[in-house]
Amino acid sequence: MNIIIFGPPGAGKGTQSKFIVKKYNLYQLSTGELLRKEIANKSKLGSEISSIINVGELVSDDIVSNLIEGFITDDNFKNRMIFDGYPRNLNQAKNLDFLLKKYNQKIDIVLKLSVSLETIKKRILERQSQEQRADDNQEIAIKRYKTYEESTEPVLEYYKKSNLLNVVNGEQTIDEISKEISGIIDRIKGWQSIIRQYKYAVT
Ligand code: AP5
Ligand code: MG
Repeated sequence: MNIIIFGPPGAGKGTQSKFIVKKYNLYQLSTGELLRKEIANKSKLGSEISSIINVGELVSDDIVSNLIEGFITDDNFKNRMIFDGYPRNLNQAKNLDFLLKKYNQKIDIVLKLSVSLETIKKRILERQSQEQRADDNQEIAIKRYKTYEESTEPVLEYYKKSNLLNVVNGEQTIDEISKEISGIIDRIKGWQSIIRQYKYAVT
């Protein structure tokens, strides 16, 4: 099972991904974390990435595509990935479909965490004091939210058409959200198992 988790900055994508990974034995592929690792390496690419992240814009599709391809082609992660923060624009969504198809995989579930800008500002400011993320301040948080609205939210239409989209109220407590997400995953896993049994029975 491959899952995409969408949502504005601070919506809880990372928090819920970690829960899903543990419960369903999946692998979290967070492009934000991969990019921050590249920055920590202090490479030339890292400094290019940091200048983009620190103004709340999107890193180029080529850079991100190079980072994720290695995971999609790796058998250890096959059909057990949760994409956290990827795809973030239509081009990335099409590239992901292309890569998954090439390696005989697909997306099974798309989760969207809905959260208001007010809640986002509060959560990001709270996190600022716990983790030192260069893009966690009020001004850049608003810019990241605008980037999300302009580039990422339109991608949801793409997944709505293929009936994969599940919207979850991200204003609830962490546990309430986890419970709702588990319900969605269990339901879809149940259907998949029925379909597999039916196919087995007719062939
Ligand atoms: P990325 O790292 O993906 O950041 P983001 O999308 O801005 O989201 P965050 O990681 O800030 O929030 P989250 O939704 O994971 O929430 P979390 O669980 O941490 O991307 C960073 C940058 O990298 C981008 O701006 C872009 O420049 C670049 N980038 C990344 N991917 C890219 C791509 N594909 N293409 C191009 N560029 C890319 O929760 C937030 C806080 O709230 C935490 O403190 C948490 O404890 C708390 N919290 C969580 N849930 C709840 C709850 N229900 N109630 C109360 N508190 C909660
Ligand atoms: Mg995150």
